[in-house]
Amino acid sequence: MIYIKTEEEIEKIRDSCRIAYRTVMMLGKYIKPGIKTSELNSIAEDFILKNGARPAFKGYKGYPATICTSINEEVVHGIPGDRKLKEGDIISVDIGTCRNGYYGDVAFTFPVGEVDDEKKRLMDVTRESLYKGIEKAAPGNRLSDISHAIQSYVEANGFSVVRSLVGHGIGRNLHESPEVPNYGAPGMGPELKPGMCLAIEPMVNAGMYEVYTLDDGWTVVTLDGRPSAHFEHTVAITENGPVILTAD
Ligand code: MF3
Ligand code: CO
Repeated sequence: MIYIKTEEEIEKIRDSCRIAYRTVMMLGKYIKPGIKTSELNSIAEDFILKNGARPAFKGYKGYPATICTSINEEVVHGIPGDRKLKEGDIISVDIGTCRNGYYGDVAFTFPVGEVDDEKKRLMDVTRESLYKGIEKAAPGNRLSDISHAIQSYVEANGFSVVRSLVGHGIGRNLHESPEVPNYGAPGMGPELKPGMCLAIEPMVNAGMYEVYTLDDGWTVVTLDGRPSAHFEHTVAITENGPVILTAD
């Protein structure tokens, strides 16, 4: 079942989301050639704790870090480590927070220095597809209207959406019902109602949509080795339409 949140609860989710958003924006300033992903992880963890939240991913199903760092052909769930960023990489940084029992979830993909035109366009199309999806997160629409808006925009631009990973409801849990696929026919699934909160997170591949998981048990990569981008916002559905909670 899909939990409907009160306005008070949405404000609590927003408090958590604000910290997640500030963390990812702050990390953006450190994304330069030479920095290790483990350094980004420590900076994020310190920042989240200092701001009165807890890293939501750490320990989640055994996940070992505060953030996910996914570089180039890595789609999501890359584990921070000794790898250093280099000029021309793109890196998705995914961050979850928990504050007073309420969760926030956000992801941005950043360029490392100058990146090639395909990677630039991939990031632009993925970010824009997220906003196309968010626009549909309004009362009276159905869940798959979000999915369809994302897929149509991505495919019209010649890229593909990952099928095997989806967005999700969020609130008192990091992952709640419903699943939010980034593909599908419009007009299907539950009707969207004020008080629903969704983490919408298109994962877009430059080439084919197929992915697989590395032997570390976490890192999802593209089957064809071409790059992938990922953007995510936590969004509340209100009587006045969608409100992005992962914001300042
Ligand atoms: N934002 C991702 C998600 O919603 C990352 C969480 S997976 C974790 O699934 F294990 F790293 F926590
Ligand atoms: Co998420």
